[in-house]
Amino acid sequence: MTIHTVTTTPFTDQKPGTSGLRKAVTDFQKPNYLENFIQSIFDSLEGIQGQTLVLGGDGRYYNRQAIQIILKMASANGIGRILVGCNGIFSTPAASGVIRKHKALGGIILSASHNPGGPDGDFGVKYNVANGGPAPEKVTEAIFERTKTITEYKILEAADINLDRPASFKLGAMDIEVMDSVEPYVELMQTLFDFEKIKGLLSSGGFRMSMDSLHAVTGPYAHALFEKHLGAPSGTVLNGTPLEDFGGGHPDPNLVYAHDLVEILFGDNAPDFGAASDGDGDRNMILGRKFFVTPSDSLAVLTANAKLVPGYKNGLAGVARSMPTSAAVDQVAKKLGIDCYETPTGWKFFGNLLDADKATLCGEESFGTGSNHIREKDGLWAVLFWLNILAVRGESVEQIVRDHWKTYGRNYYCRHDYEAVESGPANELMERLRSMTVELKGKQYGDYEVAYSDDFSYTDPVDGSVSQKQGIRIGFTDGSRIVFRLSGTGTKGATLRVYIESYEPDASQHNIETQEALKPLIKLADEIAKIKEFTGRDEPTVIT
Ligand code: G1P
Ligand code: ZN
Repeated sequence: MTIHTVTTTPFTDQKPGTSGLRKAVTDFQKPNYLENFIQSIFDSLEGIQGQTLVLGGDGRYYNRQAIQIILKMASANGIGRILVGCNGIFSTPAASGVIRKHKALGGIILSASHNPGGPDGDFGVKYNVANGGPAPEKVTEAIFERTKTITEYKILEAADINLDRPASFKLGAMDIEVMDSVEPYVELMQTLFDFEKIKGLLSSGGFRMSMDSLHAVTGPYAHALFEKHLGAPSGTVLNGTPLEDFGGGHPDPNLVYAHDLVEILFGDNAPDFGAASDGDGDRNMILGRKFFVTPSDSLAVLTANAKLVPGYKNGLAGVARSMPTSAAVDQVAKKLGIDCYETPTGWKFFGNLLDADKATLCGEESFGTGSNHIREKDGLWAVLFWLNILAVRGESVEQIVRDHWKTYGRNYYCRHDYEAVESGPANELMERLRSMTVELKGKQYGDYEVAYSDDFSYTDPVDGSVSQKQGIRIGFTDGSRIVFRLSGTGTKGATLRVYIESYEPDASQHNIETQEALKPLIKLADEIAKIKEFTGRDEPTVIT
């Protein structure tokens, strides 16, 4: 078999964003585009010779082709062994678990998460490091630097590998193990949760759940977990076959994109519990009967009830949330007497806290929750955590959340996204806010007085690295808050995210509809940032 060294020229747009390099499929199909990025990963890693890598993706269009290319490039670059998921499938959390279990150097995960798939959709490449988590900024920066100067890449000339079933192969000098990625994940979950208790709940006939996999990667995992191991009736998992275009849907588990599930849970004869996960399986949405749990509240509830779950029965070292996530979990941490860390947006910032055992549970408002069992957020893990709590407490989702608010107060919270707006004006809006932060302090807007305003900067408490410009925060003296940032995962124009939060300790005020409760702050966000003026939009594209 011949190794070819192919001459190439750099692309200027291969800077990894919040979560890897995410572009249109048509970009990745450009000659050498994928190859340049993969070679840049190999070139910027030290000591890859003979090492083990994990490889797989969320099954979206171009997954299989990309895997064949990467296998041949890995062999040509001297990788010793690759563990690749059957059919090229690896959910992001399952890959993270396998990297850790097999002490691999890292993994390449092919996913554009919740972005639509198909020939006209998006594709993505993420590199994860040895702890199983997303590459930290110093690694992604090194990869980006390399993409700017790359002149050649190496690839083995060989036939494609059959990924249809578990098997071992040799590709040049490299070993390939095509493995079932579902069972190791189920085994990991069995070490954390009380499967017998959950089985009792799901097979009792008195409790019904619906899990919507949105035709994305969690289908096989959800079938195995809920229907095979936990005794739920077949049909519990909806849209459980991964499709290359996710059935034309948008595999993002929120009230807008998972609307079929929302209709079931808010309809007549609704089940007791509903959940959905995203394209690559790291996000989750939790619903009760006619009840939506915000991701920020979900993190707080899991934290408050962690001792009911075997894997966390000895308590938590600490918790962490991304800056725009509501402070609901802060209230719980205060009561438990544990540390609560506030990090920039993106799971990679939790890695050091988890490695150093400063945090056990982490979460983001963007439907991401996870723990130190791996180094990614984990959609099905969150669903199992909720089921374990429900099985122990014997109450409904709504009862548990209302009871939580009574104890800790309610953080009303919402996010308004203005998707695919023009980049120029979106950047101007942010620049203008940045320049205003100093003068905003002390300013009075109706009932609201600005207590602080800044562009969030984070100093990692473990390695001291500093990440600047992570979002404009405007905090008010009554504890409410508005945050503005631009998305780092969108692929079309810019996406402005506006996060709005207020805190209500009085239980008699916990029944207000969220948009209603936050109305004055929503108006204020537009007044301060001139959102309509800069974006030309009258209303957000998505409200979560
Ligand atoms: C979004 C979310 C962020 C999450 C990331 C990857 O990033 O806001 O919390 O970590 O997707 O799932 P953004 O597009 O806001 O940069
Ligand atoms: Zn995802």
